[in-house]
Amino acid sequence: MSYLLRIDASASGASSISRQVADSFTAAWSGDIVRRDLALNPVDHLGAVGITARTMRADEHTPEQKAASRLQDELVQEFLGAGAYLFAVPLYNYSIPSVFKAWLDHIMVVGRTIGLGGAVPSAGRPTLIVSARGGGYGPGAPQHGKDFLVPALETILGDPNLMALDVRAITPELTYAPSVESLRHLVPQHRASLESAHTQARRQAEEFSRITATRAIA
Ligand SMILES: Cc1cc2nc3c(=O)[nH]c(=O)nc-3n(C[C@H](O)[C@H](O)[C@H](O)COP(=O)(O)O)c2cc1C
Repeated sequence: MSYLLRIDASASGASSISRQVADSFTAAWSGDIVRRDLALNPVDHLGAVGITARTMRADEHTPEQKAASRLQDELVQEFLGAGAYLFAVPLYNYSIPSVFKAWLDHIMVVGRTIGLGGAVPSAGRPTLIVSARGGGYGPGAPQHGKDFLVPALETILGDPNLMALDVRAITPELTYAPSVESLRHLVPQHRASLESAHTQARRQAEEFSRITATRAIA
């Protein structure tokens, strides 16, 4: 039976806003959940051993390549077994947390998860990115256009020739406002963004539950 695959990448544990908003999603989700916490249990970076193992026959693998293949198989099977995805990935240095990028490098495998013109097993599966950030990146903000996480993940996960997932994003902003003096005047905007994020997360969970239930029957 398929499940929601929840991946966490914030290093901040229970105080992480991305995790808290993702918790609102899972509280409203009806179905099984498989969780992988990359902050607690990061995966190794994909190295030459793992890359070469992909294109070599299994019976020719060195012991190191066997180990790399085992990890890759575990991650790919866990990914493909899901019917929906929840990725709690804060904005770190304008971009994707490195632990999440390392996980992506393992699961993006041509012919297994990536189509590149061929069939894409995960096509159309609903996917939610929850990405808290210290600053503001909306229209009119000085940093507008400098969020390189959501656009990158929309391409990596959503491109029809790659994973072809049905990607949505929730971005609770200005999480630094309560603690950084120069941003304190933006606390009301931060609170509104946070409240809206929790509401959107619950709504998305209800929608994802409906979509996956319909797909299970079809
Ligand atoms: C390593 C690191 C890099 C960060 N880089 C940025 C950044 O580029 N832009 C930004 O707005 N906030 C940045 N922040 C702030 C985080 O995005 C903010 O604390 C956010 O709430 C983290 O998500 P979390 O609460 O889910 O852990 C950074 C925080 C850390 C720890």
